[in-house]
Amino acid sequence: MILEVAIALITLHFAVPIAYYATVIKWMKRPWPDVANADLPSVSIIIPTFNEADVIGKRIINIAGQGYPLDKMNVILVDSSSDGTADEAERQARASGLRLSILREEERRGKAEALNAGLKLATGDVVVIADADAFWGANALPNAMSWFSNPKIGAVSCVKTPLSGNSTELSYRNLYNVLRVGESKKFATPIFHGELAAFRRDLLMKLGGFPTDIGADDSHTATRIAAMGFRSIIPENVTCAELVPTAGFSKWKVRRAQHLIQNFIKAIRLEYPSDFKPIIYTEFYLHVINPWILAAAVVLLLMNHGVQAMALLAAGLAAAAWGPYRSWMVQQLYLLVASVRNLRSKELMWDKQ
Ligand code: GDD
Ligand code: MN
Repeated sequence: MILEVAIALITLHFAVPIAYYATVIKWMKRPWPDVANADLPSVSIIIPTFNEADVIGKRIINIAGQGYPLDKMNVILVDSSSDGTADEAERQARASGLRLSILREEERRGKAEALNAGLKLATGDVVVIADADAFWGANALPNAMSWFSNPKIGAVSCVKTPLSGNSTELSYRNLYNVLRVGESKKFATPIFHGELAAFRRDLLMKLGGFPTDIGADDSHTATRIAAMGFRSIIPENVTCAELVPTAGFSKWKVRRAQHLIQNFIKAIRLEYPSDFKPIIYTEFYLHVINPWILAAAVVLLLMNHGVQAMALLAAGLAAAAWGPYRSWMVQQLYLLVASVRNLRSKELMWDKQ
């Protein structure tokens, strides 16, 4: 009996994501919402920074080089650094002809608090969050802004392309991007990226700014905008890249997973338009419940410890030779560790590892 239950759980653990992926592939065939050839909106770009002196200069050049009319954009740097990030930004902004306002924080208060402080200075129709340790692809900003000509679109983020990484990681990223784009075509995606996260300013105001109690402030805001009936999309023509930390990679992955889980646990209680329900409920299941289904199955197999149970476990381990399966399993492990950490700790979620 224990063995049968374990097998049923394992089947469930793999069947749900496979079925969801097949569904998303169908959504991918849908058309994008229409965009008009309207005037580009004015945009306020908020860059929160904590000790980013090494990268901020390149980031300013990257933003200035987007080909967006400079008179339609202003950049707001909200800085709590002690390494001269703000001075470096100011120097480069002047050289690039970019309008830059600098808000110096007296102490470090976390990314979301910094964003809310920056939001008070924002005047653009659209507010874009731009992490410092990232880059936008060619025309990412003008492309992102053109989607806002459709009044149903409330938020736009980017397809993330890794700057480095092995082939397993690349295939994982590809899969992840397919999910984001497919969900966007159906209605909205509940996962946004701080590297480029654009929101209609009036919607942000209605929400009272960014949530300070959840790590994934960008994803949570995108999800709340979907709850308001607007579309939060990640289209293929808006790309970004992030600098992946070389040291402490696992810790970083766990922290990211913690943030996403916090987002889904909070988001699951909201009311959603019917087109978004299959997306948000499945993603909740995949991030919060599915890893535990697998863990329960492993515990049951160990309890049973019969020949068949052990053979199944051995097969599960041997399959790790196959890259995609291995990266799936590692991701499940990150999610499990993240859940436990979320339960255990009220750690300051913005702590840089
Ligand atoms: N002013 C200020 N104060 N800025 C901060 C603080 C702070 O306390 N903490 C972080 N920042 C800045 C960083 O300098 C960087 O520009 C940006 O906020 C993102 O911080 P990271 O430390 O690089 O975050 P991450 O890479 O782990 O996570 C990012 O990506 C996630 C997934 O896309 C963040 O953007 C998350 O919000 C996002 O969910
Ligand atoms: Mn980062």
